[in-house]
Amino acid sequence: MTTTQAKASAYTSIRRAVAEAPIIARRLWVVLLLNLGGTVVQVLIPVIVQQTLDRYVGGAGVVDVGGVATAVAVGMVIVVVGGVMTRFGLVRLVTQASMGMSDLRVLTFRHLFRRSVLHVQSERRGSLVSRVTSDVQTVQEFMEWGGVMFLVNGTQVVVALGVMAAYEWRLALIVTVGVVVYVANMLWSQRLLRRRYDAVRENVADSLAVMGEAINALPAIRAHGAETITMGRVEESLENRFWAQFKAAHLGNVLFATSELFAAAVTTAVIVVGLLMGPEQGITAGVLLAFLFLVNLLIAPIQTLVEILDFAQSAASGLRRIIATLDAPIEIPEAADPLDLPPGPLEVAFEAVGFRYIDGPEVLADVTLSVGAGSRVAVVGATGSGKTTFAKLLVRLLDPDRGVVRVGGIDVRDVSWKSLRSRVAFVPQEGFLFTGTIADNIRYGKPSATDEQVRFACEELGLDRWLRTTPEGIATPVGERGSSLSAGERQLVALARAWISDPDLLLLDEATSAVDPALDVALRAAMDRLIAGRTSVTVAHRLATAEAADTVLVFDAGRLVESGPHRDLVTAGGVYAALYADWETGTAVM
Ligand SMILES: Nc1ncnc2c1ncn2[C@@H]1O[C@H](COP(=O)(O)OP(=O)(O)OP(=O)(O)O)[C@@H](O)[C@H]1O
Ligand SMILES: [Mg+2]
Repeated sequence: MTTTQAKASAYTSIRRAVAEAPIIARRLWVVLLLNLGGTVVQVLIPVIVQQTLDRYVGGAGVVDVGGVATAVAVGMVIVVVGGVMTRFGLVRLVTQASMGMSDLRVLTFRHLFRRSVLHVQSERRGSLVSRVTSDVQTVQEFMEWGGVMFLVNGTQVVVALGVMAAYEWRLALIVTVGVVVYVANMLWSQRLLRRRYDAVRENVADSLAVMGEAINALPAIRAHGAETITMGRVEESLENRFWAQFKAAHLGNVLFATSELFAAAVTTAVIVVGLLMGPEQGITAGVLLAFLFLVNLLIAPIQTLVEILDFAQSAASGLRRIIATLDAPIEIPEAADPLDLPPGPLEVAFEAVGFRYIDGPEVLADVTLSVGAGSRVAVVGATGSGKTTFAKLLVRLLDPDRGVVRVGGIDVRDVSWKSLRSRVAFVPQEGFLFTGTIADNIRYGKPSATDEQVRFACEELGLDRWLRTTPEGIATPVGERGSSLSAGERQLVALARAWISDPDLLLLDEATSAVDPALDVALRAAMDRLIAGRTSVTVAHRLATAEAADTVLVFDAGRLVESGPHRDLVTAGGVYAALYADWETGTAVM
């Protein structure tokens, strides 16, 4: 993803963001109009000052009080009207920007969620989270503050220059030349600034990823005494983040100082040239004063614009990262015309399936097999032989590089997500639990299930004995990611979750971690109940599971080397027989 970032210009990024979240630009003309009105009204002030001076304040100390009073009254009305218009424009812009950013946040997250498990996992989670949080935040802050300032100040510059030209074109020319030189310089520096802010956003993402991992892995870090290494890594990433921010801010400061210099130079030039020209060339005291007012009206916004430029670059970097996330392809898409699985128990077939992980070697090669509807299959093989990969292909967490996976006779790529997810259940090797109670977690299998149904499911699976040992039965909280349950207990909950979803095809990846004997008995009983009457494919790490299966599939280094009932395979004297011998003596490593 990093390769596509940083290339798009801020303009294309903004257009893309507006296309995704149109609220950002909805009736933008109203905002522009209000803001233009506010600015024009402000520029009228110097005109009033000049008129008052040249008309009502005579050279010999004669003051037309009535005239001055009228001018002041007009000036006040103008200030109020301008203020109100600017205010309304601002409120509108801020509201729309925050609504738009909220939409963008949801869209980005939704897109991320549809991407393949493999690709999302291959990215660092903290970095992905930063897209939806800090990157969007930066863009939002810019739109709310910077966006308004940009509009207000941009209009002010244009209008002020216009009024100057109307007053005195020669002085206006001097100012314009100054502005052009200055802006050209700024545009040039902007490219450098942009690179520095891209680096800042990347460093922020990196530090979030490093800190996120460190916090998640705290128990492991403590257990291995790896605090020093981890702290070193966190400190390094924070330090990199600091320096990236420092370098970007430093450049921003240099640019700011340049703009101060520019302000002084332009003001001096106007005063000197204006005095040299004098009243005989039409530069009255009123005109010169009005002009200095206007120069001020011009310089302040240009300085602000430069400051915003700095901010805008940061926002643009964030926006580019968000858009790169939105543009990342969905690797495992739903078919355009998805089919539903046929009713009843489901058969499974692999036809010459080959698979490799991103840039890795082939981990499954030429796998061809078929599993009849309602049969009970065990998959065995040494660790790393491809069993889990096989299961993931079957539930379409991965798509094969070659060949076809069929469930119920249909290529899984053509099956609708809804049908696949409701008819096929997968109990992964490491049962994942969400923060909440045991009942909440079981309900992930069937969100509409009542407490009564959850309790019944637990009874059916023989979990009630275990539940009685927990503090609050099915209402017991499991902690974050199920951290207050043991690995075996987590698997029990995962089994109940699969059971309540009542699937027609069941995939079980047995846990490799050892559980205590009592829990093991409970697990085995639950699994038997779960499997009864369905097609089941169990990645077996226990001899008993393989023995009880109708068919055993034996994987060796990514190939299906043997298949058949347990008895036949034992007598055949091949890979499985050797595995069986190890199992019996208790030395198998799977
Ligand atoms: N996400 C991944 N990215 C790259 N390679 C992977 C990934 N997951 C697994 N592999 C590789 O694919 C091969 C098969 O892995 P798999 O998890 O399918 O093995 P397994 O038979 O389930 O092992 P175990 O018995 O330990 O669970 C291994 O060599 C592993 O290193
Ligand atoms: Mg595995």
